[in-house]
This record gives sequence, structure tokens and C-alpha cells, in this order.
Amino acid sequence: MREIQLPLPGRDASYRLVMEPGLRGRLGPLLSPFQFPPPVMVISDRRVARLHGAVVLDSLNAAGLAPVLLTIPAGERAKTWAVVQRLARELLARGAHRRSPVIALGGGVVGDLAGFLASIFMRGLPFIQVPTTLLAMVDAAIGGKTAINLPEGKNLLGTFHQPRLVVIDPEFLRTLPRTERLNGLAEVLKAGFIRDPKLLRCLEAARPKLFQDEAGLTEIIYRAAAIKAQVVAQDEREGDLRRILNFGHTLGHGLEQASRFRLPHGRAVAWGMVAALTLSESLAGLDPGEADWGRRLIRDFDLCRPLPRLDPGAVMAALRLDKKRQERGVPFVLLPRLGEAVIREEVSLSLVAEVLDQLLREGTGG
Ligand SMILES: NC(=O)c1ccc[n+]([C@@H]2O[C@H](COP(=O)([O-])OP(=O)(O)OC[C@H]3O[C@@H](n4cnc5c(N)ncnc54)[C@H](O)[C@@H]3O)[C@@H](O)[C@H]2O)c1
Repeated sequence: MREIQLPLPGRDASYRLVMEPGLRGRLGPLLSPFQFPPPVMVISDRRVARLHGAVVLDSLNAAGLAPVLLTIPAGERAKTWAVVQRLARELLARGAHRRSPVIALGGGVVGDLAGFLASIFMRGLPFIQVPTTLLAMVDAAIGGKTAINLPEGKNLLGTFHQPRLVVIDPEFLRTLPRTERLNGLAEVLKAGFIRDPKLLRCLEAARPKLFQDEAGLTEIIYRAAAIKAQVVAQDEREGDLRRILNFGHTLGHGLEQASRFRLPHGRAVAWGMVAALTLSESLAGLDPGEADWGRRLIRDFDLCRPLPRLDPGAVMAALRLDKKRQERGVPFVLLPRLGEAVIREEVSLSLVAEVLDQLLREGTGG
């Protein structure tokens, strides 16, 4: 079993992230050292519950943990206050008390929402993450950020609530649809670009049958999860470091918003990384050969499918409205070398507009 220790911020303690194909059937024994009193509350979305609920519940039942399954609709629309309130009342009705653990079984939506609920219910319940999407395994389930959306925008209500344990079973990914796999892959590539050139080479070698080779996939998830874990752990001490996780996301968010979220997150981030590699050549001295190799790798994963026709003005407007906007320019994460990230606070909007034009011409075949 692969394992990563994560520090608990502000405390002289840590928690474990464990990873191995098949772990979902061993959740009961993995929880037994915590001596949680039954019942344990499992929150999942309906799709994941249908596909994977039984094996998880069987394991918890066999360990005497009397699991209660509570479900939400699948997808981003469930990350609302109304759903939190409904779940909180169901927790009460099903006998939850101050020591009842909440287990999030699902992608980033379930993790963010269940984590938020766990952080506020009776001033905080123990929380366990069991991520079932690639994106949640390498990103959302690590770092303790929880959130729900408001009609005005995404993730506007949130807390930090660290899990007691993160359990990653790559076998969950067997049922993950292709678009969701690509969403996660964009984050895996990002991790390699900012911190780990060896991960990029592993990805290049594994690409032809990445999702068939579960041992290879486990190694790749491990490396990417370790990067997120390192960055959030160091951020405690180095303040701003976490911002390097935004590589490819500045323009990516702009593209997503301008497309009114028709462009899937992974593809938006992929195009954002292509642009950030180009900006890195002109502003951070990234070797043009390395930049080309990086752009080719992203394309080879089929992440740069044609872009929908987008108004460049709308993308730039979304960039300026971004909460991280600056007066003279926008902050960008750039790479002086593959595997090394720096933050440039004020990249001129005219240069970004130029790169965006090039990207939109290329992306729409225009
Ligand atoms: N907390 C953080 O640090 C953090 C970081 C990144 C993203 N996020 C959040 O994560 C969310 C996105 O997460 P996501 O991409 O995992 O989306 P998601 O949770 O909506 O899952 C995507 C889809 O995949 C389905 N699914 C999940 N696991 C499956 C499986 N094993 N087999 C088949 N289908 C499965 C779900 O039912 C859903 O329809 C966003 O809300 C985002 O804000 C949070």
C-alpha cells in the first residue's frame, strides 16, 4: 500500500493518505484504528452510490460500523446550501452525534459538500475522504478545502476541515466516463509541469494505455497526489506557494466562463496550460524545445479538442473580473523550466490578449 503523511495545520500531528487498487472493499478495517462509534454517515452522489455503494457499505457493515447512506444528485448543481441543510437534518434523523464520522464517497462535488457539512455540523465531525474521480484523487480530496456554491458564484461559502484519512482506490476509475478522466488528467499534467518532470515522462510513456494499466496508473496518481500534498503542506510555512496550483487555470477559467461552462474544465485548463507554456517562453525563459514538447504532450492526451467559438473580449473580461485581478496586468503561473513554477504578478493584458488570439485561431481551426 502506498502512503503519504500530511501534516495537520497548526497541530503537531498528521493524517494519512493511503492508496492501493481494491481498497474500497477494505474501508471497514482501515477505519477500525479510529474506534468510531456507529453509525458512520456515508455521503455520495446517486451515480457513484449505484456503481460503488454496495462494496463500501458491505465493508463498513462487516466492521460493525452500521453505515447510513445519504445521497445527493450527481453534478455541480448539488453544491448548495439547500442540500447541506437537507443532509444536516437527515444526519440528525438518522442518529448522528458529535463523534459520528462523515465519509465522502464521490468526486470533488461530494467531497467539497460533505466536508463543508462535516465542518459545521455540531461544530465539526470527523471526516474521511474516499475520492472516486481522478480529479478528486489528485486534487480536491487533498488540502482540506471545503465549499458550496451561491447563485452569485462557485465556492463562495467554505471552510478548512482536514480529513482524518484519505483512501484512494484507482479501481474506482474503471467506471469513470472519458470526459471526467480527461478533467483529472489535466490536473495530473499540471502537477508534473509545476513540480515533477519525471511525472511528465511517466505520463508520456504510459499514454497509449494509461487507464488499462492499473499499476502504472496508481504510480501516476501517487506522484500527482504527493505534489498536491507537498504544496499544501509547505504553503502553511511559505504563504503563497499554493498559488502555483493555478498553472493553466488563469486563462482556463476565462475560457470556461466565456463558454458559459460548455467547455469542460479539463479542456479549458489544457488550453490554459498551452497558453501558459507560450507565455513562459517569452517571459520566463522556458526553452522553446521544452515548451513544444509540453504542448505536444497535452495535445497527445487529446485534451486540446477544438474550442467552441468564443468571443476573445468575453475571455479577457472574465480574466479582469477574476478575484485575483491586478490593475496593470494579471498574475500568471509561469515555468522557467519544466517542473519549476514561478508567479508573475503583472503579466500585461495586451500580451495575454495576443496569446489568446493565437490560441483561439488554433483551437477553432480558424
Ligand atoms: N476542495 C478542493 O481543493 C477542490 C479542488 C479542485 C476541485 N474542487 C471541486 O471539485 C468539483 C469537481 O470535482 P469532480 O471533477 O470530481 O466532479 P464531480 O464530483 O461532479 O464528479 C463528476 C461526475 O463523475 C461521476 N462519478 C464520480 N466518480 C465516478 C466513478 N468512479 N465512476 C463513474 N462516475 C463517477 C459523478 O457522479 C459526476 O457525475 C468542483 O465542484 C470543484 O469546485 C475542489
